[in-house]
Amino acid sequence: MPTTPPPVIRPACPDDLRALAALENSSFETDRISRRSYARLLNSPSAEVLIAEAPGGCGAITGSAVVLFRRNSNSARLYSIAVDAGHAGHGLGRALLEAAEDAARGRQCATMRLEVREDNRAAIGLYRAGGYQPAGRAANYYEDGCAALRFTKPLNRATGMEAAVND
Ligand SMILES: CC(C)(COP(=O)(O)OP(=O)(O)OC[C@H]1O[C@@H](n2cnc3c(N)ncnc32)[C@H](O)[C@@H]1OP(=O)(O)O)[C@@H](O)C(=O)NCCC(=O)NCCS
Repeated sequence: MPTTPPPVIRPACPDDLRALAALENSSFETDRISRRSYARLLNSPSAEVLIAEAPGGCGAITGSAVVLFRRNSNSARLYSIAVDAGHAGHGLGRALLEAAEDAARGRQCATMRLEVREDNRAAIGLYRAGGYQPAGRAANYYEDGCAALRFTKPLNRATGMEAAVND
């Protein structure tokens, strides 16, 4: 029986800009990262933009994650994560989250933090399964007034799903 090849996740490059913007537009109704912002992020030393490549290439991408870093801070922020709807539910979000955490570890960060819409069940499920702990709520956080839940995770141990299993 044929097995599905593991996703290829790599740092994004300027040629990925169009595909990143398209994925962003199809994944989010509000608070989208604009194409111009993505262009800045791709050139910023304070950001890592990761993409999952569609099998066979062709310039299409199946997922993305953006991690932000601050000078003099050992805390990274997961700024965005998205999986193309046609590829959801097969572990790609989990793989991107783990790749984002690895990128943060690579910059000596001890913590990952993030905000998520309080009505985003899939993303909250992903973060909880990945070992993230609630760290507060911010009312009226998003453009449409939705509240954000904050989550955080220490990175100085086994990767997400192992940590969740071992906890
Ligand atoms: C959130 C998102 C990235 C998840 O990606 P995905 O590839 O579908 O997730 P995975 O298949 O890797 O699932 C990993 C875990 O997340 C959780 N999860 C995923 N989809 C879920 C859902 N619809 N409901 C509840 N939990 C869910 C589960 O715990 C799952 O583990 P399991 O399959 O062993 O039960 C994807 O739904 C997405 O891109 N949504 C739109 C953009 C978005 O909201 N981004 C988050 C911004 S904060």
